[in-house]
Amino acid sequence: MRTDTPATIYRQDYLPPSYLVDTVELGFDLDPARTIVASRLTMRRNPDSAERAIVLCGENLELVALRMNGKTLGKREYAIDDKTLRIPNAPERATLEIETLTAPRQNTTLNGLYVSNGNFFTQCEAEGFRHITYFPDRPDVMAKFTVMLRADKQRYPVLLSNGNLIEEGDLGDGRHFAKWEDPFKKPSYLFALVAARLECQEETFALADGREALLQVWVEEGNLDKTNYAMQSLKNSIRWDEQRYGLELDLDRFMIVAVGDFNMGAMENKGLNIFNTKYVLANPRVATDTDYAGIEAVVGHEYFHNWTGNRVTCRDWFQLSLKEGLTVFRDQEFSADMIGTDSGRAVSRIEQVRTLRQAQFPEDAGPMAHPVRPDSFVEINNFYTVTVYEKGAEVVRMIQTLVGREGFRKGMDLYFARHDGQAVECDDFRRAMADANGRDLAQFELWYSQAGTPVVRADTSYDAEAKTYTLTLSQSCPPTPGQQSKAPFHIPFAVGLLGANGRDLPLTIDGVAHGTGAVLELLEARQRFVFTDVAEAPTPSLLRDFSAPVILEYDYSDAELLHLFSHDSDPVNRWEAGQRLAMARLLKLTAAVAAGAKLELDETFINALRKMLSDASLDAAFREQALLLPSESMIADQLETVNPQAIHLARQFMRRTIGTELRADLFAQYDANQTPGPYSPDAGSAGRRGLKNLALAYLAAAPSPANNALAKMQFDTAGNMTDRVAALGALIHAEAEYASDALARFYDDFEHEALVVDKWFSMQAAAPGTDVAAVRELMLHPAFNIKNPNRVRSLVFAFCAGNPAQFHAADGSGYAFWAEQVGALDALNPQVASRLARSMDRWRRYAPALQLPMKKALQQVAKGKKLSNDVREVVGKALT
Ligand code: ARG
Ligand code: ZN
Repeated sequence: MRTDTPATIYRQDYLPPSYLVDTVELGFDLDPARTIVASRLTMRRNPDSAERAIVLCGENLELVALRMNGKTLGKREYAIDDKTLRIPNAPERATLEIETLTAPRQNTTLNGLYVSNGNFFTQCEAEGFRHITYFPDRPDVMAKFTVMLRADKQRYPVLLSNGNLIEEGDLGDGRHFAKWEDPFKKPSYLFALVAARLECQEETFALADGREALLQVWVEEGNLDKTNYAMQSLKNSIRWDEQRYGLELDLDRFMIVAVGDFNMGAMENKGLNIFNTKYVLANPRVATDTDYAGIEAVVGHEYFHNWTGNRVTCRDWFQLSLKEGLTVFRDQEFSADMIGTDSGRAVSRIEQVRTLRQAQFPEDAGPMAHPVRPDSFVEINNFYTVTVYEKGAEVVRMIQTLVGREGFRKGMDLYFARHDGQAVECDDFRRAMADANGRDLAQFELWYSQAGTPVVRADTSYDAEAKTYTLTLSQSCPPTPGQQSKAPFHIPFAVGLLGANGRDLPLTIDGVAHGTGAVLELLEARQRFVFTDVAEAPTPSLLRDFSAPVILEYDYSDAELLHLFSHDSDPVNRWEAGQRLAMARLLKLTAAVAAGAKLELDETFINALRKMLSDASLDAAFREQALLLPSESMIADQLETVNPQAIHLARQFMRRTIGTELRADLFAQYDANQTPGPYSPDAGSAGRRGLKNLALAYLAAAPSPANNALAKMQFDTAGNMTDRVAALGALIHAEAEYASDALARFYDDFEHEALVVDKWFSMQAAAPGTDVAAVRELMLHPAFNIKNPNRVRSLVFAFCAGNPAQFHAADGSGYAFWAEQVGALDALNPQVASRLARSMDRWRRYAPALQLPMKKALQQVAKGKKLSNDVREVVGKALT
């Protein structure tokens, strides 16, 4: 293991591959202790490269045999180290035959070929294939794959790989084989195999052009009662891509396989998507509305990758957002279209904004800040980030806002016409969008190259004489690591103006009428927009629909915010006004807690919430969003110096006050939003459950015998998991007497459902009463398993990242725990360890008394002897 400073890789150092691979034939003799991989590669020199050597990546492999053009290579004919196999002076064309050995059961990294619950799976993105065999493991090398799998028939009755099954049979010795052929050229990161005891739900599905495709969802025994929603989501995804983008499934067979040990959400391997069980398994008994929504989104996401990712892939890993940003945008649009209503669309947009603020803005403001298309990395797995994914999706969305929905479709068509079958760059996507629409998107490129969240400051003035309203927008962007100063971005800035009656005023700019909504284009550091014929002094509705991922500064008065909160025709800004009202008060309360002053909440705010809560003309889902408070970490982001306990107490005070003051209204909404009849995860029902359970949560924040009895009643009679966890959460947060009984019962009822046990752990980890000692105790529970990422996320991450008031305990015990867990995880699974490491990113913002122990914990991890590059990069950057 290396202990020196790991190498940084730079985007500008890109060189084309020296050799291209036309065909790959892989043979696997699968054995958990010792798997033999035989590979036959037909290669030819790349005319675009000056390099004469064949360069193959390979890690943790034992090389058994190496032949080139039929001849075994002698030790002096190639060079090998712990990462690379190099054959200098290779001929124009070379057929390589390589035999290697790996030990899948030993592989706790869940990267490459590994064993989960006795079954074989692979994860090759980004650089896992090099843990399976020697190969030019880079996305710009695309080849046709044929795969022969051999394994014990009893133990591994199901043998799957990419593409089509072309042959299968018995080998006579208790083993069997299956041969798969993928008709499409692909990079190695899209390779997958599964050898397992599994069952599947399958059906044939008619594609738009009349072909039939076989769709399968594979799960472990006992889970076939949880595959319907994934299957339905897959069919919806296929239809949606046909209708919205004219993109068809290009295979006869499409498989989803669920695995319980998985580092991320899911993986778009060609024709053989491998999924974390969390994003496949659902029935009303075990899954919540949120779980259902996650399944729909991730099934869609991976399916959409078949075009945006697989047919057109990335030239190099710096271009990751080319496929991820675009595919997240596509899955967001899919989920919104599945709801189908304008109000549902707005709710999904609000959830996207919340995710950005909760996770991406902090990343952009911290030591790991990077552009959507990074310029450098040490470990690419550290760059599967909210910036690359979610901000990347915002960047794509802004293009659609600028060119319109139809223009965007034209751009997509041109993108595929130009680049189908290629490995390309983010710039190629932007160029296709620009060319298809005759638009200049040159300045827009800065969204890909500059890190940091831009701040847009708005100033307004109304001239009653001239009936003009002037909006001045100024933009700036704070420095980020390696980027001291930034040039102005191209920002689509949607606006409307509200009259005193709450209606939108007509907009005229430079003599051009814009209806009641305009998208301004901010290109300069400072720009003025003059609206004419404005009959009255308006209330501005700025950055409607969150038209750009920026921080908007405008000195709204309370009266203006209340006006927008009641009337804005843009639901996102209506919600936003409520968030601003709440945030202003939360910040005041936080200061009051710190100063030991009296805590108070004004009647006006409470009444605005009351009106919103009971406004039956609005969807329940929207009302739920409008009544959700900014999270503790969002409050922290507004502060120069963070005091997590003060924030927690302030927010708890607000929740308790809402629960007390709105008690009668909350009970009324609780009753009004029941969903009788069989459970359905549709958005309307989920929205009603959401509002009802938010009412329950507010009541639990102001515990009383009657409130607690309501939670107990719901827990005891819940007919679905959504209501059950909501009730359990309410009991835990109210510290109700019944809470511990309920937790015990919940565990007894669901101990054989791994995903529910995860919920059981995470609810406890995030509870206000759970301190480090309690988490350590939970880690001793027989169901805890540090090798299972879902379980670690449900307990260790849920505490370190989701329970700030306890994690940041004054005695530093949370930090010591964090350091210990990062170290323990790193020895097993660097990808998971490195994610946990990120929960200390923003240590410099905490009160001085916390900073010191945080720094110490970071330093302690940094000096670990066998640290992975993954963790080294994260803690190294945090300490810089
Ligand atoms: N491409 C997968 C997805 O969409 C993510 C896989 C990343 N895996 C990893 N180990 N870095 O979303
Ligand atoms: Zn993806």
